[in-house]
Amino acid sequence: MRMDDFSRRLLRETRLSVSDLIYPLFVMEGRDNSEAIAAMPGIMRHTPDRLLKEAKKAYELGIPAVALFPVIAADKKSAGAEEAVAENGLIPRVCAQLRKALPNLGLITDIALDPYTSHGQDGLVNERGHVDNDSTVDLLVRQSLVHAAAGAGVVAPSDMMDGRVGAIRAALEDAGFVNTRILAYSAKYASHFYGPFREAVGSQAALGASGKETYQMDPANKREALAEAQLDIAEGADMVMVKPGLPYLDVISHIHDNCQIPVFAYHVSGEYAMLKAAAKQGWLDEELCVMEVMTAFKRAGAAAVLTYYACEIARWLKHH
Ligand code: PBG
Repeated sequence: MRMDDFSRRLLRETRLSVSDLIYPLFVMEGRDNSEAIAAMPGIMRHTPDRLLKEAKKAYELGIPAVALFPVIAADKKSAGAEEAVAENGLIPRVCAQLRKALPNLGLITDIALDPYTSHGQDGLVNERGHVDNDSTVDLLVRQSLVHAAAGAGVVAPSDMMDGRVGAIRAALEDAGFVNTRILAYSAKYASHFYGPFREAVGSQAALGASGKETYQMDPANKREALAEAQLDIAEGADMVMVKPGLPYLDVISHIHDNCQIPVFAYHVSGEYAMLKAAAKQGWLDEELCVMEVMTAFKRAGAAAVLTYYACEIARWLKHH
């Protein structure tokens, strides 16, 4: 069966298509400006006008959706993360702009407080120095409502607080946003592969030496990931996410085999950086390795992949 191309194609169990891709985008305040991110060659932070062009490029390549991440100026960050729920904040303005210019492009917004907190944690920190679950959930609910009102089709809580999916679902229903979908980062690990992203959104400096292991998952655990996904599904999630991607293929597969809703993979910044670095050295064939990684996600059961490579893959797919 492996002898000829025709029979290898007939034998093939998984296929990657442009419909499997989600393109993450970083947006910052300002006009007509873009900034490079050192550890993410090819990816930039854009001002809203430039972001529109980048989103249009993705849309024209056939990519179904983009995931938006804000870069918040230091003077707008605070312990209470007030900027996260500002109705005329950066993300709501960008959502409204994209919704109008590209009505058929899916908009996924990140629901978490880390770009907005002066300490860089995903939630509010209490007197004891711990991220406080319940007061954080209240803010995440308000953040979700602001994003939904601005035109986000999907809100994606990436904070790992308990009970946030149920609270967000109830609030969206009450406010009449019955079609806003929830993509829950159910299995988000306290990973060290997020370094370049934290540089990109400027949360690393705020975070300092502190980690997120009091709320993000222990990389040693797999069964717990299924429990988290099941809770989020029971609370009303439409899709669940595993993050990072490649080091956690077993987790994707375990959730895929045990849950009846789509599971997505986040091919995170550190995974992107590794491939870019090796390709730049000429040590790996970038296109072939990236395609192999994406095929591995599909084989593990991922319905879609968030990847900084989305636009490059969409182009490569044209000649595959
Ligand atoms: C935080 C968030 C992180 C990423 C997406 N949302 C990082 C973190 O937990 O500090 C990382 C994504 C990447 O590395 O590409 N809400």
